[in-house]
Amino acid sequence: MTTSDRKIEHLLLCVEKDVEAHKTNQGLRASGFDDIYLVHNCLPEIDKKALDLETEFLGRKLRAPLLIASMTGGHPDTKAVNAVLAGAAEELRVGIGVGSQRAAIEDPGLEDSFRIVRDRAPNAFIYGNVGAAQLNEFGIEGIERAVEMIGADAMAIHLNFLQEAIQPEGNIDAKGCIAAIKKICSELSVPVIVKETGAGISHSQAVAICDAGAAAIDVGGLGGTSWAGVETYRAQKRGDMLSYHLGNQFWNWGIPTAVSIVESSITVPVIATGGIRSGIDVAKSLALGASMCGVALPLVAPALKGNKDVVDKLRLVIEELKAAMFLCGCTNVEELSKAQAVITGKTKEYLDQRGFDTARFARK
Ligand SMILES: Cc1cc2nc3c(=O)[nH]c(=O)nc-3n(C[C@H](O)[C@H](O)[C@H](O)COP(=O)(O)O)c2cc1C
Repeated sequence: MTTSDRKIEHLLLCVEKDVEAHKTNQGLRASGFDDIYLVHNCLPEIDKKALDLETEFLGRKLRAPLLIASMTGGHPDTKAVNAVLAGAAEELRVGIGVGSQRAAIEDPGLEDSFRIVRDRAPNAFIYGNVGAAQLNEFGIEGIERAVEMIGADAMAIHLNFLQEAIQPEGNIDAKGCIAAIKKICSELSVPVIVKETGAGISHSQAVAICDAGAAAIDVGGLGGTSWAGVETYRAQKRGDMLSYHLGNQFWNWGIPTAVSIVESSITVPVIATGGIRSGIDVAKSLALGASMCGVALPLVAPALKGNKDVVDKLRLVIEELKAAMFLCGCTNVEELSKAQAVITGKTKEYLDQRGFDTARFARK
């Protein structure tokens, strides 16, 4: 199966099947956000109509701290999906990432499905996407072509070794990644975001990524789309019992997004993706240390319907975020980053055992 065919298969599986990480027996989401409580302010003393969500990220101004996370492109049928997503990003002036550009670097005939994003979102913050495993193969020239393809403001380098470990065609030689990331960070014409894709980033790897020169980290934590889950369905279709078994076993593998935000907040801005399902999750992420949040799976079905559906979904998230800010007494994103949050349950247990001071978020 080609890279291009895989991209369309992934997209369709994400709407047809339940590909999310499983909830705990208590019904709590694997992302950890259900363990986080923002402290309610019964006397906010602010005017909700005057809230300011404007955010600066990597030198660009966005109307809200929101990104349409890296998803698609690379198959002719994905062009329309990217057009819809990009139109929504332009209208709401939020950021947008494209999916892995590998297929178009290998076959320029597929560039169209990515280029459409800049055509439809001439003013939006747009970031490109390539896999860490492909950096040496494509070299700096290949990655610059990916930047040019979409007039990228930044380039995301994705890490997806969980998925690679389960796919029979997976790239399982992970040697030399950090050196390749360091080289790209120093040579590429735009800032580099290093992102996971659903298994999260721990403190020591976040330190290594910052040291390599990344401009931002996207934690891509456990709790949203499970790529082991997606691979389980693909394996079932082709009767591959080994990948099916591995996919099931590793469905919930990884560092929960809420934990990963705390682990990765070191020096560079942190993006939270992985199970961001409402504006309340966005508010919690910002209180834990993230600067931006990205949403992927909840936008797939709306994107297949049309522009209005994507805009409506994102508007809802923004309205939820505004309500959460108001009820925490925060007038802007900067104040939200200092909001009081109580960390309970498994998320507290995890962070305590890892040596993080969870009490500091309560900020009495
Ligand atoms: C259909 C689909 C395709 C994706 N393709 C990519 C990709 O090509 N590159 C990448 O870095 N992440 C990709 N992702 C991962 C997302 O960017 C995000 O990190 C992850 O899905 C967690 O967010 P979610 O729980 O909101 O889906 C994809 C996600 C979805 C749902």
